[in-house]
Amino acid sequence: MLTPVTISSNMVGSEFDSLMMQRCLQLARRALGRTSPNPLVGAVVCRGSEIVGEGFHPRAGEPHAEVFALRAAGEKARGATIYVSLEPCNHYGRTPPCSEGLIAAGVSKVVVGMVDPNPLVAGGGIARLRAAGIEVLVGVEEAACRQINEGFIHRILHKRPLGILKYAMTLDGKIATSSGHSAWITNPDARSQVHQLRAACDAVIVGGNTVRQDNPYLTSHQQEGHNPLRVVMSRSLNLPENARLWDVAEAPTLVLTEVGSSPDFQKMLLNKGVEVVEFPLLTPDHVMARLYERGFCSVLWECGGTLAASAIAQNAVQKILAFIAPKIIGGSHAPTPVGDLGFTSMTEALPLERVHWRVVGSDCLVEGYFPQKSQ
Ligand SMILES: NC(=O)c1ccc[n+]([C@@H]2O[C@H](COP(=O)([O-])OP(=O)(O)OC[C@H]3O[C@@H](n4cnc5c(N)ncnc54)[C@H](OP(=O)(O)O)[C@@H]3O)[C@@H](O)[C@H]2O)c1
Ligand SMILES: [Zn+2]
Repeated sequence: MLTPVTISSNMVGSEFDSLMMQRCLQLARRALGRTSPNPLVGAVVCRGSEIVGEGFHPRAGEPHAEVFALRAAGEKARGATIYVSLEPCNHYGRTPPCSEGLIAAGVSKVVVGMVDPNPLVAGGGIARLRAAGIEVLVGVEEAACRQINEGFIHRILHKRPLGILKYAMTLDGKIATSSGHSAWITNPDARSQVHQLRAACDAVIVGGNTVRQDNPYLTSHQQEGHNPLRVVMSRSLNLPENARLWDVAEAPTLVLTEVGSSPDFQKMLLNKGVEVVEFPLLTPDHVMARLYERGFCSVLWECGGTLAASAIAQNAVQKILAFIAPKIIGGSHAPTPVGDLGFTSMTEALPLERVHWRVVGSDCLVEGYFPQKSQ
């Protein structure tokens, strides 16, 4: 049985190993937002200090990163070291197992970033390689390897996509003026970060009010960047006939509503190429279950406070990204990032862990996670 790798401050492997693993992650990122339900994976084949082959997993159904790297290395793979950011697979899926491919290619060492997150298969690929006499080093740059695939890991462990609630607020905690105007709270640097974030996510969700108030695009505004599926949750379907989201030339849109809601409006959306799905009861939890079935790993909640509160209450949010702009708008009734959670005492406040702060242009970004509920 494989001994589990513990994350510690002690560095695993040499500095060169770290560098090569960082190169794997750089390659993996080329497929950002396109691999779900599969992970982002990169691989590098080295002979001594020379890179002789590189590869990454481009999308589900296509070969894994190791296959591309071995192909590029050709005969030079024999006796070489291969770096791969995720444990090589050991099962027949849409492609044959990479463990067998590595053995057949004759590599002498495999350096792995992190073990497979699925407890049922974790360590299987590594054990197979070791049984074939190949040296295996596990846990090089493990934290970075886990970070890039946090959505994939969450999906495997919890059978739901990772929910990320992102919002922009003023220093006095408002996400819009009392009249509902919110463009723009943050500076262009922060907005460009949001565009990158969208490019890395499978879906972005807003509620009906945000469509009515902001008429957003919700695209990644990048030439080559991936666009997430744009999801609108609206029970009433009391939405504008001409919203930017109904133009699906650049990115697809999915409207989620309740059974029987405004059939004429549904027909109008379908005619424009917008997908519509009716739920008996439209809740964040049901929506996340449906997006899991579609193979999604990460979902960005870009909604206002009403829907955000409902999503948090139903455990559909695991991570918070709060952009804070150093300006004051005031307004006793101006909306805030999270609506009513029903709490009355400060002891009920939901604490965040793994919190980081960083300055983005003239704004501040606070990032943190809700503690994971045990299964
Ligand atoms: N600064 C920011 O980061 C940011 C981001 C987003 C929004 N905003 C601002 O926030 C304001 C809108 O906030 P909001 O909270 O009213 O907006 P919201 O995100 O539109 O959420 C509320 C709407 O979601 C729909 N909904 C569907 N199922 C729901 C459920 N289970 N629980 C709750 N809602 C559900 C309803 O739409 P129907 O009424 O159509 O049925 C409801 O009116 C706007 O002024 C906008 O500018 C700011
Ligand atoms: Zn594989």
